Formats: sequence, C-alpha cells, structure tokens
Amino acid sequence: MESEFNLEIFDIKLDTDIIGRNFIYSEEVTSTNTLLLDKTIANIHGTTLLAEKQSKGHGRKDRLWYSMKGMNLTYSVLLTNKKYFNKQFNLINLAAGLTIALSIENLFPLKTELKWPNDVLINGKKVSGVLIESASKGEKLERVVVGMGLNVNQTIFQGSFNIPPTSIKNETGQTIEREMLLAELLIVFEETLENIITNSKWILKEWKQRCRMIGEKISVTEDEKVKYRIFDDIDENGFLLLRSNKKIEKIYSGDVSIA
Ligand code: BTN
Repeated sequence: MESEFNLEIFDIKLDTDIIGRNFIYSEEVTSTNTLLLDKTIANIHGTTLLAEKQSKGHGRKDRLWYSMKGMNLTYSVLLTNKKYFNKQFNLINLAAGLTIALSIENLFPLKTELKWPNDVLINGKKVSGVLIESASKGEKLERVVVGMGLNVNQTIFQGSFNIPPTSIKNETGQTIEREMLLAELLIVFEETLENIITNSKWILKEWKQRCRMIGEKISVTEDEKVKYRIFDDIDENGFLLLRSNKKIEKIYSGDVSIA
C-alpha cells in the first residue's frame, strides 16, 4: 500500500551535518536527477530531493527507472563541493552503491551484493541502482548529482529486466518505514563520501568484499559490443580491470554479467 512520507519522523532520524540538511520533498517530478542538475533549483552542497513519483525517472544507458508512487525511495543528492571533483571522482559511484548496501545490512538481516559499477543485489536480484550525472562549465565540473532508486515496499514489478528486480519488502516479508531507511542512507552516504577523501582504501575494501565477480569470467557490453574476459580487479579509482591471458585492460563504463 502507498504510504505518506512523514517529514517529521524523517527529520528526527536524520543525524547528518550536511547531506540532506537542505531537503526538498516533492509529490511528482520529471526526474530528481534532472531537477538537481538545474542550478535554478538548488546550489547547496548536500541538497537532497525525494520524489514520490517520477514521470521520467531514468537509469544508466537511457533505461527507464519505474517506481510505484509512494512505495519506494527515489531521490538525488547534489554535490557542489569541488573537493570531490578530482581524479578520484569515480569513487563516488562505488561509494553510492556501497552506501545502499551498508544501510540495508545495518537495518535488516540481509546480505547484499554489489555489481560493478553500482547496482545493489539481494539474492541475485536487483534492489537498487545508482545514476550519477554532472554539469560542467568548460572543462570544470560544476555539480554532480547522485541519483538513487531503491525498491522498498513495492512487491510486483512489471516489464522485462536484465536482472530480475526485488524490494526490501519482498526479501524480508515486512513493510518498511521509508523515513528511517532514508535517514540511514543519508547518514551512511555522508560517511562514505568523507572516506573518499580520508580513506579511499576502506571504500575499495568494503566494495570488493561484496562483489562476487572478482576472478570470474564475465561478459562486458560496451557500446553494443560484447567481450568475454576475467574480472581481475577494481583499480584505486574504482575502474574495472579485465584480464585476458596476461594482458590487463581498464574499463571506464559498461555493463557486466557472469559469462
Ligand atoms: C540504474 O540502475 O540504471 C540506475 C537507476 C537510477 C534511478 C534513480 S531514481 C532517482 C534518480 N532520478 C532518476 O531519474 N534516476 C535516479
């Protein structure tokens, strides 16, 4: 059943210094990512926009992200602090996926799996996806928007999917309080973001612990081309390292699955 998001409960639980302190709640938007990319909407670092429904919610590779109104969490966080816009920029991707995995594990008796670059799976099914979009002025990054879609209380998913979808309710059998979950997600995101600067090794270690593909033969789809390689490792900036014979190749973006 659709439930109203209670801003008071959320506010009491949100124990962050920056992330989510400027909070925008909306019944319906096109896409929370698209809105936060617009500098006339918000400029404060950490601004978080939660929408009950998105008419143009999208994922990586222009896929649609469909989420039933009032059931799940579809939100974006705006980053404008330039300290994140350096060569470790791609770690934001890993940090976002890891945040969702850690928050789920902190609150529920569930194990999570991370799929490069940033899908979160439970029991082999996708519970969450992350889409990072950015706006630049000339060569310089101006703003980065981290969009997260997490299936919480939706139990039925229609359509065709690369990976079968699931929700926290489907995996626990319980209806979840979204306010408490979003507060946890933002608290953990604030910590993982800080770790990009102070302890990126921790992010890589925690991320790799949840990735079951390392050492496996995988297929990689990049610009419609599929190739088969060994998932060797993730480098210090979060890019994928593939191995074939003795050659190592770096992949910056793409879709991977077990071959
Ligand atoms: C993916 O799995 O490809 C990423 C899905 C990301 C969906 C979220 S929902 C909130 C934010 N707004 C969007 O339009 N997309 C992201």
